[in-house]
Amino acid sequence: MGGITVLTQRVFGAGAAGPAAASHWALMSDTHIDADAATEARGAVMAANLERVREEILGHSDRFEAGFLNGDCAYLSGLPGDYATLGGLLKPFSEAGLPLHFNMGNHDDRGPFCEAFAAQRPESPPVEGKHVTVLETPLVNWFLVDSLQRVNNVTGEIGEAQREWLARALDERPDKPAIVMGHHNLQETPGEKNGKPYVTGIEDTLAFRDLLVARRQVKAYVFGHTHNWSLSQPEHMAGLHLINLPPVAYVFDAARPNGWTHATVREEGLTLTLRALDKSHPEHGVVKELAWRAG
Ligand SMILES: [Fe+2]
Repeated sequence: MGGITVLTQRVFGAGAAGPAAASHWALMSDTHIDADAATEARGAVMAANLERVREEILGHSDRFEAGFLNGDCAYLSGLPGDYATLGGLLKPFSEAGLPLHFNMGNHDDRGPFCEAFAAQRPESPPVEGKHVTVLETPLVNWFLVDSLQRVNNVTGEIGEAQREWLARALDERPDKPAIVMGHHNLQETPGEKNGKPYVTGIEDTLAFRDLLVARRQVKAYVFGHTHNWSLSQPEHMAGLHLINLPPVAYVFDAARPNGWTHATVREEGLTLTLRALDKSHPEHGVVKELAWRAG
C-alpha cells in the first residue's frame, strides 16, 4: 500500500546549561510481533522477548531520549492485528513518556501500520509512499529511511525519489554528525538464486552507499534485517560505521545474541552496549566505542 509517508521532526531543547555532553538512545530491531502474543518462531516467543526488552529499557538508570524500532515490527506481512498487539506491547513506553520512532521492514505494511500508529502519519509527506523521519537533536541528526520494497518479500530498496530527498535533507544539515537508519543491509554484490541475481539487502545499494559516503557528516548507517549483531567499518567506505542491530525476536544462528542496544551519543562518537536477552552470552554487556570520521 503506497501513499502513506511520515515525517516526524523534533528539535530537542538544549536547556539553560547548553547541550548535554551525551544523550542515550534505545535501539531495537526485528520484533516480529504476531497478532497472537503467544506465537513462537525459531524457539522465541516474540511478544515475551519484546516485553523483556521493554522492561529493561524502562528500568534502566539512564534516561533515554527516544527508542527506535528498526523495522520488521510485525511478524510476516504487517497485518492490522499484528500492529494492534504491538501497540499494546509498546504502550508502556508512551505511558513513561519515551517517544518511539519506526522504520519499515520487509515484513511491515505502511497502511495498517499508520492505521494503528496514527501519530506516525505525517501532515505533508516528504517522499510519496515512504515512511521517513528526521530527528534533529543537539549532538546528532537522525535520518530514518524506508527500505521496504514489497510486503513479505526479502529485497529492500531506497529508490530514486527517497535518495534525492535524503541527499537534500543531509545537504541542508551539513554541520552536525548524521546517523542514517534503515531496515535493510547494504549489499554491494547480488547473490544468485535459480540462476538469477538475488538481492536480500538493498537493491540500489551502490547509489545509496555513494550518497552516504560522499557526505562527511554521515558517520554511521544503522540497520537490522540479518538478525546478526555486528559492527564494521569497511575500508572503501571512508570511515563510515556499519551497525547491524541484534533482533529483539529470534536469531537465525543460535550462537548469535538477541536483545537490544544502548547507544550513547557524544560529540566525537558513539558508544554501543549490547544488552542480550541471554545474560550469559559472551557479547552481553560488551561496550564498543565508535569514533566519528573527520569532516
Ligand atoms: Fe527480520
